Amino acid sequence: MRTWVFRVLAGAGVAGVIAAVVVMWVSWKGDVDPAGATIGLASLIVAAVSLWQSRTGPRPSSPAVDPADVLAVDPPEQGDRSQVSDSAGSAGLPSPAAAAPAYPPAVPATTDRRALPNAATLTVPAGLPGLPRPPAAVFLGRRQVLTRLRKTLTTTPKTPGKPPAARPAGSAGVEPVVITQAAVYGLGGIGKSELALQYAAGHRDAYRLVWWIEADSPAQIQTSLAGLTRAICAGADSVAAAAATVEEATDWALAWLAAHPGWLLVFDNVEDSGDLHPYLGRLTGGHVLITTRRDTGWRDLGCTPISLEVLDPEPAQRLLTRMIIQAHPTRPPGRGAPAHKAGPAESAELAGLAEDLGFLPLALTQAAAFIARTPGMNVTTYRALLRDNPGKAHAAAPPGGDGERVIAQVWTITRTRIAAQNPLAPRLLALLACYAPDQLPITVLHHLPDADELQIGQALGLLASYSMITISPDSGTGSDAVSVHRLIQAVTLNDLPGHERQTVHTRAADLLTAELPEDPDVIGSWPAYRRLLAHARAALPPRSPAMSQVIDYLYASGDYATAKTLQHQRYQAQLDHHGPEHPDTLFAQADLASYTGMAGDVAGARDQFAA
Ligand SMILES: Nc1ncnc2c1ncn2[C@@H]1O[C@H](COP(=O)(O)OP(=O)(O)O)[C@@H](O)[C@H]1O
Ligand SMILES: [Mg+2]
Repeated sequence: MRTWVFRVLAGAGVAGVIAAVVVMWVSWKGDVDPAGATIGLASLIVAAVSLWQSRTGPRPSSPAVDPADVLAVDPPEQGDRSQVSDSAGSAGLPSPAAAAPAYPPAVPATTDRRALPNAATLTVPAGLPGLPRPPAAVFLGRRQVLTRLRKTLTTTPKTPGKPPAARPAGSAGVEPVVITQAAVYGLGGIGKSELALQYAAGHRDAYRLVWWIEADSPAQIQTSLAGLTRAICAGADSVAAAAATVEEATDWALAWLAAHPGWLLVFDNVEDSGDLHPYLGRLTGGHVLITTRRDTGWRDLGCTPISLEVLDPEPAQRLLTRMIIQAHPTRPPGRGAPAHKAGPAESAELAGLAEDLGFLPLALTQAAAFIARTPGMNVTTYRALLRDNPGKAHAAAPPGGDGERVIAQVWTITRTRIAAQNPLAPRLLALLACYAPDQLPITVLHHLPDADELQIGQALGLLASYSMITISPDSGTGSDAVSVHRLIQAVTLNDLPGHERQTVHTRAADLLTAELPEDPDVIGSWPAYRRLLAHARAALPPRSPAMSQVIDYLYASGDYATAKTLQHQRYQAQLDHHGPEHPDTLFAQADLASYTGMAGDVAGARDQFAA
């Protein structure tokens, strides 16, 4: 819409607010006339929308369907509210697809935007890593499941209607047309992501492209796919790629994948199989590997489910042995043990410890790191410590059987030790537990007021040496990013008394707020927002100004679906806090209706405006 329209809307908005308040006041004074009150409330909402439109000015992108148009507030002849509602009936509404061309695409005013390059013509840039971190150096006991996984992915599905393999393994060793999909499922900490990493790294040469997708939420899936576009376009037209909306970039990635068969996509930690619906149907010519804690719904999506169990006793014991004895050949695992090889008594202790830890790889690696790092510690003593720390059962952790209890036990022991060595380390871990588990830019922590970068680096190094966190390079910035396993996050937070937990959450939100670039409308700020989005969702209170900034970024960058989801939480929080008639609630409701319309749900937008 043009500027004069906004001026008119601003005037109408102010007048509307006054008129609405008068109408409502009169209605309520007169022993509550429901019709009058309804008209007054509706006018107030419409006025709020007008004010909102004028407050925000011409947004960098225009909606596919402008909610103001849905409500038909512009044409003067549509006068009263009932007419407005009627005109917004489904028969009169344009479908989102039909309406889309009537509006300009999302174009932030200050930027240079151009079309993305032709997907068919670009090849994978040399050296594209595609994986979030290198696979673990010590990886034991998964030979059979790896073989099964490879077989599943390389066997042409016999599903009726699926096109047959057009040619044998091509340059990338993958059937060019078919898609094969495997879903590895199991408890948290059992080794699903590690298995996927090992598979991807081990077979990297068989694929044209390997790409890792953080798949906890639909927004993260989109962001990771859009990241593929930016990675492929980096050498050709990085400006166009940086400026593309998340939807454009995601569509481009899917077009590129369709044009270049022979890839492997890893969707890591899918929470809901439905989140993959929009993609799996559109992907052909590659392999899809899913990791998930959910054990149902995969066959319906054409995926072969593969169950991952805890390690067998023998590799579990070997894992402990390798990490404890071979990391420190001079330190025996128990009293009187030989330097390099465990004797029968020590082997029995190692086997016992593996069992105490439920053969869970996450617990095994952490316990082994603790024993290997702690002077004077041996397996026997550690087992005694475990018995003295039964571990709290807690509700905060995701469902995962005994895994949480064991991880809680291990954490209790480790926390005491690292707190004695460096009190900043447990504080940092508690903060890290408030963000999304993967890839928090380390620069967020640098906003801590009472620790400098060196101290933070030392404390993180200590946590990493105890296998509590993983530090990996952040490909976007050249600095580092920190990942913490979800189970460790859960037990860390659960371990804090209620008031401390609240303080830590507040501090985590403050640090993240300080890291957010100021102007979410400017394309130059988008890469930072993209990297911080998952963490912002985890850490920022819905009513905070910082969350509003994040939603503005989503709006500006064209991710209307996520903008709508977050705005819904914001509206609900305003409603709970202020009640239904407070201006903040009404503004939040108007914004929600707007994003709902732009996300393609025109009828939903109408209902929200009319509510
Ligand atoms: N087979 C294995 N051998 C050695 N370490 C393993 C193995 N499987 C997993 N790990 C380690 O255990 C930890 C948890 O594994 P992860 O893959 O993150 O679990 P999940 O994804 O199932 O929650 C990681 O540190 C990983 O490196
Ligand atoms: Mg995982």
